[in-house]
Amino acid sequence: MNREDFPMLDSNIIYFDNSATTLKPKRVIEKMEEYYQKHTSNIHRGEYDAAEKTNQLYDQVREIVADFIHCQKDEVVYTSGTTMSINMVVFGYMRKHLKRGDEVLLSKAEHASNILPWIKLQEEIGIKLTYAPLDENYHLSLEAIQKCVTEKTKVISLAQVTNVTGDVRDVRKIGEFCQEKGILFHVDGAQSVPHMKVDFEESHMDFLSFSGHKMCGPTGVGILVGKKDLLEEMEPILYGGGMNASFEADSSYELKKAPTKLEAGTPPIAEIIGLGEAILYLKEIGIENIERQEGKLSEYFLSKIKDIPNIILYGENKESGIFAWNIEGVFAQDAAAYLNHYHICVRAGNHCAKLLKDILPVKNTVRVSFYFYNTLEEIDQLIEVLKNSKDIFKIVL
Ligand code: ALA
Repeated sequence: MNREDFPMLDSNIIYFDNSATTLKPKRVIEKMEEYYQKHTSNIHRGEYDAAEKTNQLYDQVREIVADFIHCQKDEVVYTSGTTMSINMVVFGYMRKHLKRGDEVLLSKAEHASNILPWIKLQEEIGIKLTYAPLDENYHLSLEAIQKCVTEKTKVISLAQVTNVTGDVRDVRKIGEFCQEKGILFHVDGAQSVPHMKVDFEESHMDFLSFSGHKMCGPTGVGILVGKKDLLEEMEPILYGGGMNASFEADSSYELKKAPTKLEAGTPPIAEIIGLGEAILYLKEIGIENIERQEGKLSEYFLSKIKDIPNIILYGENKESGIFAWNIEGVFAQDAAAYLNHYHICVRAGNHCAKLLKDILPVKNTVRVSFYFYNTLEEIDQLIEVLKNSKDIFKIVL
């Protein structure tokens, strides 16, 4: 679908590394170029025409995001990406609101960004981290979560879709459960928001984090969505221009209201405008069409890869477009180098989910991750190359 929109696809590559970052459509690149070439200016500081234009585009993106994930406009905070968003949740909100002994429920399939900040907070204030178990398909169910929840559980923080085995969690049910129990619910949406309909309000999320570059937008920009009252209670982790109402020589100061108080300094203006354009682009394609196309690709991939005897597949979560596997007896990075020889781009390694090694039988895997512009023919080519992988060491070594 829409392959002609992506200049990178003019080169002779098969791009299956969409969980790392997606390709960028021309119109996103052009929108950012337009800012640089026609109305470069800072935001909320200039009275001249170029600045007015920039302000208007910049402010509009908050509405575009709010409409896309169903939240209020002033619940949208611009950040540098999912990592920054989660760090803001942990060190801006949780550090102030949790106390020694409070439990935070995670899973071992989470990305480093949804584990390490919590480990640091544990070190600082003595919270307890617990890990809900996954089933044999690396899936995390509501029932498994419920069994791990105690009276001390104050937060559940989970990826909606995991970045290695592509497990899709039922955030709606988990959100309802959290609401019933008075547990704060943070969702890492890095691998879900670009691919499926995500509804912040209906899923009873308290916080949602995601990145622009995994959804056809630029790098360096992301979003934190937080319930209004929680954002007001959040401490900024950066202080500076734009976020303060006043400060005095006696060290008194007053901050603006959220989300502005959480956005110190000059933001990534071109990137925010680019992200807005990316979301409009995805909306035009239709998120349900994106889901349908990825569903087709995943089903096809699974049906084909299972026929190759020397492939070890880790999980079969066909509700997402993310699959981890290995060629028997071949180190994952060697397999990726072999695929690169045929211009097939994949990621190999632990994919920043370093606790998954406690559950998976291996530390490193090859990962393919699809997006709507991938095709069944590209999967055929991958399968063909894998079927002939007996030549791998001639090519890699
Ligand atoms: N989190 C990104 C990935 O899974 C970088 O590849």
